[in-house]
Amino acid sequence: MTLKKQTLGEFIIENQTSFKYSSGELSSLLNSIRLAAKVVNHEVNKAGLVDIIGAVGDTNIQGEDQQKLDVYANDKFIQTLTRRNIVCGIASEEEDSFVAINSIDENNQNKYVVLIDPLDGSSNIDVNVSVGTIFSIYRRVTPTGTPVQLKDFLQKGSEQVAAGYVVYGTSTMLVYTTGDGVNGFTLNPAIGTFYLSHANMTFPENGNIYSVNEGNYQDFPLGIKKYIKYCQEEEGERPYTSRYIGSLVSDFHRNMIKGGIYLYPKGSRNPNGKLRLLYECNPIAFLAEQANGKSSDGVTRTMDVEPTELHQRVPFICGSKNMVEKVEEFMRKFGE
Ligand code: AHG
Ligand code: MN
Ligand code: MN
Repeated sequence: MTLKKQTLGEFIIENQTSFKYSSGELSSLLNSIRLAAKVVNHEVNKAGLVDIIGAVGDTNIQGEDQQKLDVYANDKFIQTLTRRNIVCGIASEEEDSFVAINSIDENNQNKYVVLIDPLDGSSNIDVNVSVGTIFSIYRRVTPTGTPVQLKDFLQKGSEQVAAGYVVYGTSTMLVYTTGDGVNGFTLNPAIGTFYLSHANMTFPENGNIYSVNEGNYQDFPLGIKKYIKYCQEEEGERPYTSRYIGSLVSDFHRNMIKGGIYLYPKGSRNPNGKLRLLYECNPIAFLAEQANGKSSDGVTRTMDVEPTELHQRVPFICGSKNMVEKVEEFMRKFGE
């Protein structure tokens, strides 16, 4: 029997009816993310040529200014998402405030807001290591046809209608959820098509990988320090393996497939952790829960945190369920 190859485009349409609002607009929105991902992928793949074809700040051969890749990715996602009449506002790591789209036109029925980290792991670009894009989608809470407002963006993660990421790795993959499991699609770069390669992705309940920037160890709460020591102890399945890429998307992707935990705790230098709640932690937390994993700040479920500002940071502990619960147990016992 030959397996039917399903493309991302086909999958989005075929699964449209399982989505509770099912108007076709979300499908169209996901399709524009798919398109922008391909364009950004093409540029990411050329990153190593920057010294040859011109550095950032230079003018390239077509007379266009070379842009930093995170700015380029930001522009491409915003342009692509703006073109279709679906999104009324975008918040991005690269923009101080949210971008409103045509939302003052009373005939405008755009319902969705998108929050995005256009290029995650940007310190890895120059050294040819995987980077990613993270996105989170909500329905606006204010009426359509009125100007989009900050409160449309400051929704709890549990209100997300879809979320996902693109990982520009040895292969480029797009992984997303609409609240009905997690599916992963791999890009065939020769023809520019994403194919379903990882259906129904799930975290193993237990894992043996821990991912944390141990350079910050001295700074961590006592509960986290004790947990790291626990990972290193020799007993049963332990010691665990330490793996840290420094691109949340890539670290999360590996841990979801193999079983593991990612930690970015708070410390005295980062009193609320480093990662941003709205466009890094919440979308990854939604994917984690949809894949039978778990996500919290060590005490509170990530998606229950009430957002107060666009670029808010939170401590982030995410991964295989039993591992995250173990961290929570250590936090209860040893706390700060
Ligand atoms: P970004 O490139 O979007 O600013 O995100 C970087 C984030 C995340 O991807 C990564 O896991 C973490 O920062 C790494 O931080 P440290 O270098 O402090 O470990
Ligand atoms: Mn990031
Ligand atoms: Mn970024």
